[in-house]
Amino acid sequence: MSKYVITGANSEIGYALAQYLSKQGHELFLVSRSAKDNALSSIHPWTDGIDLTNESHLINMREKIQEIFSSPFTLIHSVGDFWTHKSIEQTYFNEAVSLILSHYVTLFGVIKAVVPIMKTVGGGKIIAFSCNSVKYNYPDMAAFTSAKAAIECLIKCVANEQSQYNIFANAFALPSIKTNSVIQTKPEEFHENYPTLEELTKCIEQTVENLTPLVNGNIINLFKYSDSFYHKGYYERNTIWKEDLNERTKGLL
Ligand SMILES: NC(=O)c1ccc[n+]([C@@H]2O[C@H](COP(=O)([O-])OP(=O)(O)OC[C@H]3O[C@@H](n4cnc5c(N)ncnc54)[C@H](OP(=O)(O)O)[C@@H]3O)[C@@H](O)[C@H]2O)c1
Repeated sequence: MSKYVITGANSEIGYALAQYLSKQGHELFLVSRSAKDNALSSIHPWTDGIDLTNESHLINMREKIQEIFSSPFTLIHSVGDFWTHKSIEQTYFNEAVSLILSHYVTLFGVIKAVVPIMKTVGGGKIIAFSCNSVKYNYPDMAAFTSAKAAIECLIKCVANEQSQYNIFANAFALPSIKTNSVIQTKPEEFHENYPTLEELTKCIEQTVENLTPLVNGNIINLFKYSDSFYHKGYYERNTIWKEDLNERTKGLL
């Protein structure tokens, strides 16, 4: 069984992952800003009240990880403000700042905290969550997508810099996942093709457990087959949406 640190343990994906990894018998250390969950924190150590943009909180988290893990572990970073689609003009400046802080700066801070520990214990794997929007550059997602692009760049830099110490970094580029927030904010979309949390957590565990050191610095794209996604580009789908309500119900990814 493996050892995992999950930052953002209260995010929908982070919490579902923690539950799944726990059921598979892995050893976890969970970190969140909001209050810990009683069920999981009775099984695994969980530190809450950690704002990952705050350096002293990051140091506190690093000390706790150091106490708990003395052999290689995987960090899964599931952190960052949720985004609802809007144009650059509609985006408040503060929202753009918060997106960079919550997605990119938290990841940088956590990586800076865990790398010295990973070096001491013989290595580890670092996993971040990006989004397929970086590949497609959808409209109305500029602030979010550019924060995710920074994450992808950081992961590749870490891979190149740290693999000499047996530390390997990869990111999953996720499509929309069938989380409560996604369903609530995209009520008119057809959600059949969105991967569920069950599908995602199983896929992440299987992939991470089987990653060899040769898989390093990659952006791993996760997709579920969709007729509309594979046969039409973003603008074609959008035009059809406006013109044909039947096509619209086939949905976007
Ligand atoms: N859901 C999707 O469809 C989807 C698609 C593509 C990519 N992703 C990515 O996958 C990751 C998880 O997504 P999700 O939907 O599960 O997220 P979520 O439920 O919206 O949760 C976001 C988490 O980020 C944490 N957070 C934000 N700023 C923080 C800070 N400064 N310090 C510590 N924690 C902070 C929040 O912590 P607290 O609640 O503890 O305060 C919250 O738990 C995110 O990076 C997201 O961008 C998700």
